[in-house]
Amino acid sequence: MQNFDLYNPTNVVFGKGEVPRIGELTASYGRRVLLVYGLGSVKKTGLYDKVTGSLREAGVEWVDSGGVKPNPVLSFAREAIGTFKQEKLDAIVAVGGGSVIDTAKTVAAGSRYDGDVWDFFTGKAGIEDASPVTVVLTLAAAASEMNGGAVITNEDTLQKTHIVSRHLFPKASILDPVNTFTVPRNYSMYGAVDAIIHVLEPYFNSSDPDTPLQDRFIEGLIKTIMESADIIYRQPNNYNARANMMWGATMALNGIASSGAGCTGFPMHMIEHSLSAIYDIAHGAGLAVVAPAWMKYNAPEEPRKYAQFAERVFDIGGGTPEERALEGIAALERWFSSVDAPVTLEDAGIPAEDINKIAKNANSLSELWGLPDYTVDVIADILRLAV
Ligand code: NZQ
Ligand code: ZN
Repeated sequence: MQNFDLYNPTNVVFGKGEVPRIGELTASYGRRVLLVYGLGSVKKTGLYDKVTGSLREAGVEWVDSGGVKPNPVLSFAREAIGTFKQEKLDAIVAVGGGSVIDTAKTVAAGSRYDGDVWDFFTGKAGIEDASPVTVVLTLAAAASEMNGGAVITNEDTLQKTHIVSRHLFPKASILDPVNTFTVPRNYSMYGAVDAIIHVLEPYFNSSDPDTPLQDRFIEGLIKTIMESADIIYRQPNNYNARANMMWGATMALNGIASSGAGCTGFPMHMIEHSLSAIYDIAHGAGLAVVAPAWMKYNAPEEPRKYAQFAERVFDIGGGTPEERALEGIAALERWFSSVDAPVTLEDAGIPAEDINKIAKNANSLSELWGLPDYTVDVIADILRLAV
């Protein structure tokens, strides 16, 4: 067990019918808020009216900031920061998935800073303060509703990278699984892939070879997320499956499951973010391509852990640890395909001749991500396993 300092101040309100509490939960942080949402699903589903009705009832005024696109961009966040400052607002309400919540957190950080908010993403400045954020979650995936991270793409430099700060945890997040019933099948499945890789990163990248508690936490999360996804694939309105998926995805990246594992980095995410930055593909789709390739590249170094993954998640026995390790990766790949996720660059519509371009883009962030061993050649070798 490695030392850790676990901090998580987010008040999570989970369950059917809880959305009307957003007004009261937000009013304690401010009376004039920026309301951030996506391209339109919140209006189609009627959630926008529910949320604004609750804000009005609680005496909270709002300024709309709609139009966040998947793989959210810096230009939108910069403009929203300008609005926040001009309108002298107090807090931000995010109604959406990871893209919306991350945009809201970026605005929260930029609202208390005189410089350019991208300074925080390049390490040029540190986040010392942020405006309060409250959340109504509409898609189970990123766990941004209960962590201090945010991921944004700089469209000029084609870099997609993150900020992490204790100031960025949402003050309160409402997780009502019914809000995810309308998530299209592809994004529901990409969310499951994203959540699985959130725990596979510390599972395979831990500095401690002996982490029985974290391993079983993580194996249990993966099995439940896969089981729930299989049900949602056929029955999108199955409340329990949506509830297990929602809480499972939040638990996969709120810091609890992997605490003590001594996580040494998120290389699969660093490489995937280049696919999303350059080709604008969904984050979970990119991970379904990158993760099996990354696992094939790394398994020979540590077959024991990969064999354990095969045995405990897919009940694979027999053979040598090396054979079980490869069978476990193949089983994960088959599961990704069974939920219509791409598993090769070609499936994702990405030409193999772009591998060097992608590798250079990912390598440009490797110092910032604390992954200096990920040279252009190493990343290109990994991507070649996804052809
Ligand atoms: O824009 P709208 O119309 O709302 O449509 C969205 C969007 O097109 C739609 N959607 C969301 N909720 C819906 C819905 N459609 C119908 N009904 C609903 N209830 O789904 C599409 C995708 O939404 P998005 O927010 O992009 O998906 P997700 O929640 O997977 O977020 C992905 C983003 O999270 C970042 C990723 O990089 C990516 O940019 N991540 C954030 C992390 C964090 N903050 O800790 C960590 C993750 O690793 C991840 O990187
Ligand atoms: Zn992710």
